[in-house]
Amino acid sequence: MIISPSLLAADFANLSAEVKRIEDAGADWLHLDVMDGNFVPNITFGAPVIKALRPHTKLLFDVHLMIDRPERYIADFIKAGADSITVHVESTEHPAEILTAVREAGLKAALSVSPKTPIETVFPLLPLCDMVLVMTVEPGFGGQKLIPETLEKVKVLRAEIVKNGLSVDVQADGGINDATIRDVLAAGVNVIVAGSSVFGAADATDAIAKMRQLG
Ligand code: DX5
Ligand code: ZN
Repeated sequence: MIISPSLLAADFANLSAEVKRIEDAGADWLHLDVMDGNFVPNITFGAPVIKALRPHTKLLFDVHLMIDRPERYIADFIKAGADSITVHVESTEHPAEILTAVREAGLKAALSVSPKTPIETVFPLLPLCDMVLVMTVEPGFGGQKLIPETLEKVKVLRAEIVKNGLSVDVQADGGINDATIRDVLAAGVNVIVAGSSVFGAADATDAIAKMRQLG
């Protein structure tokens, strides 16, 4: 299991210290939620903030783009130091071109599906994906409750990956905590995003250790 805590739940006034804290707590990756106020009804941060954080940690930068027409900004996020870039299948008419460009730059390439989007939408693109992110809440905000029906999509996706002999990570994002992680892993997820339950925990080291135990 890979644990990718979401910076969205960090103290934005102390980002470099927060990143260090979560690295020391045993995180594997750092999940960076970029929101544009158009694709989702919230605005967070962009490539300049990611670039500023890059020298402060060795954690893999798992960049989740919740922006319209992300093809306009892919080069910026690559330059900023992203290791993995995820775009929403709902946000672009050019998913194959984006995945190919991200891979050619030597990064991991991923597609995400929002809760109402059928998982089959990504099937033709799986050979171009290193990971698929199944949103377990509506994208836009941290601290929401996991939508159980989204785990059915995870099962169907995992079966399709196995059937085709592909090597694709399956990531889930939203509402993952001690109470939901077992079901999430059992459905076939191997990369866990957790915001409030890790950055927001009293002790992030304990929170990550407990998640690993439950897995
Ligand atoms: C929501 C973001 C998530 C969010 C998860 O749109 O993509 O990464 O930070 O937060 P929690 O874990 O609090 O649900
Ligand atoms: Zn996210």
